[in-house]
Amino acid sequence: MTTPDVGPSVRMDERIAELRRRLERHQQTYLLRFLPQLGADERATLVGQLEAIDFDQLAQLAAAGAHDTPDAASLVPAPYVPAPPDGPDESTSHHRAAGETLVRSGAVAVLTVAGGQGTRLGWDGPKGTYPATVVTGKPLFRCFAEQILAAGKKYERPIPWLIMTSPANHAATQAFFDDNNFFGLCRTDVLMFSQAMLPSLDAQSGALLLEERDRIALNPDGHGGSLRALASSGALDELQTRGVRHISYVQIDNPLVRVIDPVFLGLHADDAGSSGRMSSKMVEKTDPAEKVGVFTRHDGRTMVIEYSDLPPALAEARDDAGRLRFRAGSIAVHIIATDFVAELTRDRAFALPFHRALKRVPFLDATGLRVEPDTPNAIKFETFVFDALPLAGDSIVLETRRDNEFAPIKNAQGADSPATSHQLQSDRAGRWLEAHGVTIPRDADGHVMAKIEISPLTALEPADLVAVDLPKKVEVGAEVAL
Ligand code: UD1
Repeated sequence: MTTPDVGPSVRMDERIAELRRRLERHQQTYLLRFLPQLGADERATLVGQLEAIDFDQLAQLAAAGAHDTPDAASLVPAPYVPAPPDGPDESTSHHRAAGETLVRSGAVAVLTVAGGQGTRLGWDGPKGTYPATVVTGKPLFRCFAEQILAAGKKYERPIPWLIMTSPANHAATQAFFDDNNFFGLCRTDVLMFSQAMLPSLDAQSGALLLEERDRIALNPDGHGGSLRALASSGALDELQTRGVRHISYVQIDNPLVRVIDPVFLGLHADDAGSSGRMSSKMVEKTDPAEKVGVFTRHDGRTMVIEYSDLPPALAEARDDAGRLRFRAGSIAVHIIATDFVAELTRDRAFALPFHRALKRVPFLDATGLRVEPDTPNAIKFETFVFDALPLAGDSIVLETRRDNEFAPIKNAQGADSPATSHQLQSDRAGRWLEAHGVTIPRDADGHVMAKIEISPLTALEPADLVAVDLPKKVEVGAEVAL
């Protein structure tokens, strides 16, 4: 017997009928109200988008209250390992050697989460394309690429680089890498994958919003989505096939972050206090209002409480010595074992807890007119990667010097802006040069009064400068690129 030939339009009619039944169950048939006006391609777009939505999960999310933060009284500060000295030294040589062995044997990859847009920064395009460095204006992506290239040479092993994009910036990110010839990296060692999207919901009614006649409003599912996207994209399998056991996780916004840190890797993989599943880095928070998450302990488990969720009484609490009690500020740097990601994502329905945020989302009203709201009108749901920490068991938090590794660019002006990052970049470069006898001009607050940039290809850490021809002195206002 032969199957009757079913044409594409018949199949589409069947899909629409099935979809309509699903939407009826969830009182969302209004999403199909412009369907009769759509062409075949537009219909396919809308139907495909709606078919992919788990309406039961969305209904649960909409009904649930805000993400549960543990009771403040049950939180204690998480212990941390104090910052090791800059460069090789006795106390960390064991961990450094263990970390270097991991990198040399190809067991380490880097993951940069770059799915967010540079909205706060006012940058039109993937944030990784933003010119970040103080003298040459290198884009953020190049800052990471040069470190990965230099570490690959130093340890004689190419280091795979995973980049998580979002559907909104994936093509532009790929084009940027193509235009820049992958910054000299081998193309097969750069693995890009896109995170998933979730529908934004009307804050009043919980209904989905139409952004266009053929498209619902979606937002990226947060950097916590990286775990599931690693698995669903096939990147995790690829890493495991290559023998990668640990992922060095960093955010795109920090040009000074150390993407390969042997001491941190060694501590994570080898220390008695570590399960080897997920570790983190912190800097000391000195201003209670600083917008960083803090490491805490709850029920014996390490967790990050986001700055917006930390009760002011805890944010401001001080110990006997006058230091902030909850001072372990997250710089969003982790090492995550590939086995841990595989274990978590074995269940395809795995998701970290959802956090909700209000945002402005343009939408079409019942007549098809576009509404541009002045105030937040929609809820977006996101997961945060640090919510995997409590699932990791024993977890190391390593302190790092703020002036060594944390110069994020998030806002156009004020805190965490290009101006603050540039000063921190020059301050660090100045310190590295001073360690080799170079005279550096500093102001009364100790800030370097010149612009100094050291490429990772020149030095990954101060000790590497020993082989470099250095000036004796840097003049006030000079621009130096090494
Ligand atoms: C983040 C951390 C905060 C930490 C601080 C350190 C969160 C919620 N908070 O704050 O605890 O102390 O950094 O600088 O992360 N991203 C994606 N996909 C998404 C959303 C974000 O890839 O769906 C990426 C962004 O591209 C960026 C990073 O995640 O690299 C951080 O996102 P952002 O929302 O800007 O977090 P912050 O508020 O800066």
